Amino acid sequence: MRLKDKIALITGAGSGIGEATAKTFAREGAAVVVVDLNDEGGQRVVAEIRKAGGTAEFHHADIGKPAEIEHMIAFAEKQFGRLDILHNNAVFATVGHIGDLTLEGWQKTLDVGLTAYWYATKCAIGVMLPRGRGAIVNTASVSGLAGDYGLGAYNAVKAGVVNITRVTAIEYARKGIRCNCVCPGPIGTPPLLRMEDSRPDIVGRIKEAIPMGRLGQPQEIANVVLFLASDEASFVTGAFFVADGGLWAHSGMPSLTGQGPDW
Ligand SMILES: NC(=O)c1ccc[n+]([C@@H]2O[C@H](COP(=O)([O-])OP(=O)(O)OC[C@H]3O[C@@H](n4cnc5c(N)ncnc54)[C@H](O)[C@@H]3O)[C@@H](O)[C@H]2O)c1
Repeated sequence: MRLKDKIALITGAGSGIGEATAKTFAREGAAVVVVDLNDEGGQRVVAEIRKAGGTAEFHHADIGKPAEIEHMIAFAEKQFGRLDILHNNAVFATVGHIGDLTLEGWQKTLDVGLTAYWYATKCAIGVMLPRGRGAIVNTASVSGLAGDYGLGAYNAVKAGVVNITRVTAIEYARKGIRCNCVCPGPIGTPPLLRMEDSRPDIVGRIKEAIPMGRLGQPQEIANVVLFLASDEASFVTGAFFVADGGLWAHSGMPSLTGQGPDW
């Protein structure tokens, strides 16, 4: 087991990538604190982990509220005595071109996607430092490495997540705390699956743009998070790990040979 006896907290673990990561961590021996503002999703994930023989507790929190972040870290400590792994993963994203975004949408995207990641990291460091060890894994995105039409606030947030990962890594590298991030490409989680139902044309074009020609699966991101959180990544810190079916490797330039992506 790759996370035997570790204590892990995952935000946004009631669905999608966070759910896959929570189940993977539990299978690998960690006790998992499943955090979500969606009680139904979070409790379902905990029940499924327990049914499979794992250890998990649900904690309701809206990570857009700093006091709730303090409570969630305190809950992990109270429940399990310490915290070894923090996976910042929950998200809110407003959609619209830069000139059309509202201040409210921009602010909420930053509060949940960036400020919360920093504040949870700050609170977790307070718990990890006395033991001189810990691993933090942030969910960034390929949207943190380049721009997307209509996702300006999210792009700013994810670029911020990539860089706060680096700062956390260098500042705590000699204190036993590692910090890395994963940059997924388009993944088949509920938001994209819902879009596939309502706008199959858009999701069809997304798949076409991905060299592998398909969406990623949540498990394919959980596998990366597992590596980064585990002691196997003991010399890895400050890294961003792209898992996107080749999307970010493409410059966006159309084929000079006229041959399409399925050539
Ligand atoms: N799905 C993709 O294509 C994709 C691509 C790149 C990056 N990501 C990133 O992966 C992460 C997970 O996304 P997902 O696709 O699994 O989404 P998802 O919607 O399936 O899961 C997100 C979970 O976060 C919870 N959540 C939202 N706001 C919250 C808050 N304020 N407090 C607590 N919980 C909250 C939701 O209730 C939900 O259960 C996000 O950081 C997202 O930006 C996703």
